[in-house]
Amino acid sequence: MDSLLIKGGIPLHGEVTISGAKNAVLPIMAATLLTGDPCVIRRVPDLSDVRFMGQILTSLGATVAFDGDSVRIQAAKIKPHGDYELIRKMRGSICILGPLIGRQHRAKVSMPGGCVIGARPIDLHLKGLRALGVKFTMSEGYVCARAPRLMGTELFLGGRSGPTVLGTANVMMAATLADGVTVIESAACEPEVTDLAKFLVAMGAKIEGAGSPTITITGVKELHGAEHEVVPDRIEAATFAIAAAATKGEVKLLGARPEHLHAVLDKLREAGVKIERNGNSLTVKRTGQVKPVDITTLPYAGFPTDVQAQMMSLMLLAPGISIITERVFESRFMHVPELGRLGADVAIEGPSAIVKGGKPLSGAPVMASDLRASAALVIAGMVAKGSTQVNRIYHLDRGYEKIDAKLAALGARIQRVKGE
Ligand code: EPZ
Repeated sequence: MDSLLIKGGIPLHGEVTISGAKNAVLPIMAATLLTGDPCVIRRVPDLSDVRFMGQILTSLGATVAFDGDSVRIQAAKIKPHGDYELIRKMRGSICILGPLIGRQHRAKVSMPGGCVIGARPIDLHLKGLRALGVKFTMSEGYVCARAPRLMGTELFLGGRSGPTVLGTANVMMAATLADGVTVIESAACEPEVTDLAKFLVAMGAKIEGAGSPTITITGVKELHGAEHEVVPDRIEAATFAIAAAATKGEVKLLGARPEHLHAVLDKLREAGVKIERNGNSLTVKRTGQVKPVDITTLPYAGFPTDVQAQMMSLMLLAPGISIITERVFESRFMHVPELGRLGADVAIEGPSAIVKGGKPLSGAPVMASDLRASAALVIAGMVAKGSTQVNRIYHLDRGYEKIDAKLAALGARIQRVKGE
C-alpha cells in the first residue's frame, strides 16, 4: 500500500485546477443506464472510484471508453445483474439501483458496505423507490427489486439526519421513466444533485426544482443520449483552500465555483483567511494568526460534512477552543486519534470535537481511515514540524485526483512512496 511522505512548514503558492466532482460524476455515470444511446461525460476526474464505476457499468453490459478526462458510455443492452464483488466494495455504487429500475423495472445489487464514517443505511432509498411501486426482497446480502409498473407519486424522503443525497439521486432517476408525476419532498439540495438533474434533462427528462427541497419529475417514455460537463468539485476546492490557509500560503483555485462554497468561505473568513473571488476562480491567502471558530456540519447549504476533517486540521493552528459538531454522520472523527499522533489536543464529546488549538505539531507516521480524514492528515502533515508519513493513501486516491502532484506543484514537499 502506497503512502505519502510529507515535510512540514512550507507555505503553498501558485495555481491549482479543480477537477470534476466525484459525487456528481458517479450518479451521472450511473444515469447512462437509463438509455440505450451513447453518452459522453467530460471533466471526469481520474479517481479509483470513477474507474470502479466504469467496471461496474461494464459488468452490467455497457461499453465504457475513457479518453483523457472524458468517458463515452453506451448501455445498449443491460444484463440482469452486475459484478457483486465490485458493487459491494463502493458505497457510491448504490446509485445504479434507480436507473436499473427505471430502465428495466428490475435490479439486483449487493447491499453497500458500511464504512468507517457510519452504518450508511439505504432505508430512505428503499422507501422512496417503494413509493413508486417497487417491491424489494433482501436475501444473502443482495437487494432484489421488481416493479411491474413505476407510478409517479408524492413522497417524503427526509431522514433522521436530514435529506439523502444518493437517495434523492436514485428516486429522481427512476422517476424519469415512471408513469405520471413524482414530487420528492425533503430532497437533497447538494450541487451534485443539481448537476445530475441537468444531465437527465439533457437526456430528455422533465425535472423542475433540482437544488431545492422539492423536486418534480414528469415521467417520459424513454430517454436519449446526451453530452455533459461535470460540475467542479466543491469539496476538493474547499480542501485546497484550507491547505493554503493552514500553510500560510496564497493559492488560486482555478475553476472553483464560489456559489457552491458559501458556508466554507464564511468560516474561513471568520478564521482570519483572506478570500478573493475572480469569476470562476478563488484566491485564498493567510498572513496573520488563524482564529478559532465553531463548526456544525449540516445538509447543503450548511457547512459540508465532507469538509469537517480538513477544517479540524486548520483549527489545530488556532490558539483557543474550536468546537466541531458532526450532525450528518454518526461517527466521522476517525482522524482525531491520528491527528493526536502529531500532537493535536482534541477531545470527543458525543457529536462534538473540542479542539484545543495552538499546540505545537510534530511529524509522525499516521494512518488514513477514510477519504476526507486522509486529506486532514495530509494538511496537518504540511504544517507539522519535521516529516509525516500518511499510510494507506488508497483512501485518498478514491476521491482526490493526483493530490500529491497538485500539492507538489504548489511547492509542498510531498512524495508518494510505493508500498508492497
Ligand atoms: C453522499 O453520500 C456523498 N457520497 C458523501 O460523500 C457525503 O458525505 C454525503 O452524501 C452527505 O453529503 C456520494 O455522493 C458518492 P446521504 P450518501 O444518504 O448519499 C443517512 C465523500 O467523502 N441515511 O446523504 O451516501 C446517512 O446514514 C462521501 O465524498 C439514512 O439514514 O449520504 C447519513 O447519516 C462521504 N438512510 C445521512 O443520512 C438512507 O437511506 C446522509 O447520508 C440514506 C442515508
